[in-house]
Amino acid sequence: MRKNIVAGNWKMNLDFEKAEELMDDLAEILDEKKPEKCEVVICPPYLYMELAVDYAQEANFEAGAQNVSSFDNGAYTGEISAEMLKRLEVKYVIIGHSERRAYFHEDNKVLQAKVRKALDNNLKPIFCCGEVLEERKGEKHFEVVENQLKETILKLSKEEFSKIVIAYEPVWAIGTGETATPEQAQEMHAFIRGLIVEAYDEKVADDTTILYGGSCKPGNAKEIFAKPDVDGGLIGGASLKAKDFAAIIDSF
Ligand code: PGA
Repeated sequence: MRKNIVAGNWKMNLDFEKAEELMDDLAEILDEKKPEKCEVVICPPYLYMELAVDYAQEANFEAGAQNVSSFDNGAYTGEISAEMLKRLEVKYVIIGHSERRAYFHEDNKVLQAKVRKALDNNLKPIFCCGEVLEERKGEKHFEVVENQLKETILKLSKEEFSKIVIAYEPVWAIGTGETATPEQAQEMHAFIRGLIVEAYDEKVADDTTILYGGSCKPGNAKEIFAKPDVDGGLIGGASLKAKDFAAIIDSF
């Protein structure tokens, strides 16, 4: 049976003190109210990764990275390798976020290489997909998501694929305050599950965690998470406030 996950993507936010304060607050809240229906993950900037891993050893959350290099090691200034993250005992890594695709020109080939490195180093990829507004308006969203997945993770072996978490994040809903309706999320999540059945089988599809991301907040999480094919969320803005994030975790 698949597990529910609520993951916080902190993006490039917070100074060291604020990051520590947020981890502290979260650890405290989740200690009082143990999240029983989902696993909680926080993905801070690299600089606070070690701190997050230290917290994760005691607290009721896991640590994840926001990115990983597509290379093993060597002369790649500014990069962080999957092996470095593994050594630190990081559990998850976000790959293919729309901001990485748009601002850092990461295409399916690069993303597939990143997935490869992550899996080779026992990191669990949270693989993002999703269409931009024009694609949604032009009714191309299913086609876009299908290509994003078929050119990357759906090429993996069944065993490798079983380590993947998918996050559907319609780009028009990220940081905009505009959320996909629960029905729109469900429709796409069911479509993605169908693609997994086609590529592997029913059991693999049934066991795959598919998260929704894009302006998910305490006020809308419950309705979205209630949909049968939505197994949690990848949360940006609302993960920067301990109380909001905790309320989202409480939405199952
Ligand atoms: P948002 O970001 O919740 O701020 O819309 C989600 C994401 O980018 O993962």
